[in-house]
Amino acid sequence: MVPKIHSLGGYIHECQKGIANPEAFWNQVAESFFWRKRWDKTVEWDFKKPEIKWFINGKLNITENIFEKNLYTHANLPAIIWEPNNPEEANRVLTYKELLAEVNMFANALKRLGVRKGDRVALYMPMVPELAVGMLACARIGAIHSVVFAGFSAQSLADRINDAEATILLTADGGYRGSKITPLKDIADDALMHCPTIKNSVVLKRTGSSINMKEGRDIWWHDAIHGEPAHCEPEEMDSEDELFILYTSGSTGKPKGIVHTTGGYMTYTAYTFKNVFQYNPGDVYFCTADIGWITGHSYIVYGPLLNGAQTLMFEGVPSWPDAGRFWDIVAKYKVNQFYTAPTAIRALLAKGSEFIEGKRLDSLKVLGTVGEPINEEAWHWYHDHIGKNRCPIVDTWWQTETGGIMISPIAGVTPTKPSFATMPLPGVQPVVVDNSGKELVGNSVEGNLCIKYPWPGMLRTIWGDHERMKDTYFSRFENMYFTGDGVKRDEDGYYRILGRVDDVINVSGHRLGTAEIENAINEHPLVNESAVVGYPHAIKGQGIYAFVVCGELSTGGEDGIRNSIMKGVNKIIGPIAKPDIIQLVPSLPKTRSGKIMRRILRKIAEGDASNLGDITTLLDEEVVDQIIDGALVDV
Ligand code: WTA
Repeated sequence: MVPKIHSLGGYIHECQKGIANPEAFWNQVAESFFWRKRWDKTVEWDFKKPEIKWFINGKLNITENIFEKNLYTHANLPAIIWEPNNPEEANRVLTYKELLAEVNMFANALKRLGVRKGDRVALYMPMVPELAVGMLACARIGAIHSVVFAGFSAQSLADRINDAEATILLTADGGYRGSKITPLKDIADDALMHCPTIKNSVVLKRTGSSINMKEGRDIWWHDAIHGEPAHCEPEEMDSEDELFILYTSGSTGKPKGIVHTTGGYMTYTAYTFKNVFQYNPGDVYFCTADIGWITGHSYIVYGPLLNGAQTLMFEGVPSWPDAGRFWDIVAKYKVNQFYTAPTAIRALLAKGSEFIEGKRLDSLKVLGTVGEPINEEAWHWYHDHIGKNRCPIVDTWWQTETGGIMISPIAGVTPTKPSFATMPLPGVQPVVVDNSGKELVGNSVEGNLCIKYPWPGMLRTIWGDHERMKDTYFSRFENMYFTGDGVKRDEDGYYRILGRVDDVINVSGHRLGTAEIENAINEHPLVNESAVVGYPHAIKGQGIYAFVVCGELSTGGEDGIRNSIMKGVNKIIGPIAKPDIIQLVPSLPKTRSGKIMRRILRKIAEGDASNLGDITTLLDEEVVDQIIDGALVDV
């Protein structure tokens, strides 16, 4: 059994162990799993190279730790509880035994399609149990899954497939989201025109939409598993064999494929899930994230299932059929732990409390948030109206790269403070450093958040680009992992995340690179150049503000250009990256060396032009006034 903390004293004790002897600490956690062969050495690391290895030479299969290890006790308990988009449609509950059978049948189907250990399988799927089945089937046979969020465009999907050189794509005829259907197969077809490595696409029938099935390439999911046995021997994996790739945005260039490996990721997600949420056997746990993001990977699929938990998976959106949907689900399944993003809380708060009235929320024990800073108003609403002042809120800070939660309260154990992620989990060693790289010791300090010792769940590389791994995370500050976040450690030693210090923005909890959005805008034939910054947005946390320089206007005038830029971004990246504001400007503020001064644009977008700082290095100071005059927010 994964070790569990029960008291503040216990937490402090574990933290001390994690610092005094991290190897002994993590050995103890890892020992609760089933290893085909035990590791020889706990950790080897060198942040200069960088090289990080955990549980060296250990052999295992993560699905064996979800299934076989627990079947004796868990076979007939629910593993996945699936709530469909439409509340009128029948739900599905898959027990551990049933889920294993599905996973094995699909694993056999993948093998029949020629998938072997180390091959990449891309998934572009709605939130249905088969998405988890597809991931676990890959893990069963040692294939590396790469899930692409089903809101991304054809081009984004193609880029990700090509970067990973995936040979198989798993998709569906469509996906339900509220009152809409996303034509996943049509989008996938567009993508696959540019994906030479894909041999087959397996298509799940979900919406019954009419689609094209390409002869020789496309196979229905039900045909692929037809006649396959419900037994599949798990592939023996090395602890450091890749488990999955998940693409995320950085401050420059194209999205990067974050690589997680088997032994460390398993140990880390299982430990953090059980402790942060204080999961007890029989509890129903509901995380509202999409599996297309890391939160879904770690805390809908792997973390809960490794603990034999009941994990609720919801296909739809919080606002449909009305803004009470989450609370209907909580009441229907007597949810005990509920984990969501601040943006969802703010959106529901804005709809008013009538959607909560009369709903039974008394099963709730723990509330969680993730993905962006939570403002105090949202925190209090969540605490008062949803948690009825009874439920601790775990504000969990972490990243795609960290694999699992890093700084967070342990529910009911760590005293909380609104908008603070509180303290690091045992085994995690955060440091605050100033811009020159000096560690700021003691309390009441503010600076860049870094981690100075490896943890099992950390990324190992960026797929196909180890140099970029080094540049992004290990070159800014010597000998530590740089998170990209700013942080404050207050007088009590509590951590409050201040947001990104790089050119990454967090829009409705979705992580986007401003450079990516600029590239998409710049593809517009009339655009000369652009600069994108984040600005405070009441619901989304951050909105997207684009300053765009056009050579000439088309016949549609300014609105015409704005609309066509929006459409372009939608097509190139997906709807999540559409700018909220597009300001057409005569030129961008640049230094004499031609660098765009984003600091100034950020200030203007924030509506604060009173203190722009030193602008004497600008090539043309006048342009700043012109931009302020034309600003589309109150400056
Ligand atoms: C932000 C999501 C404040 C942060 C799991 C981080 C947060 C980025 C929090 C990673 C939090 C995540 N409070 N900010 N509790 N959690 N973030 O990779 O800026 O999608 O660097 O992983 O989200 O986003 P990602």
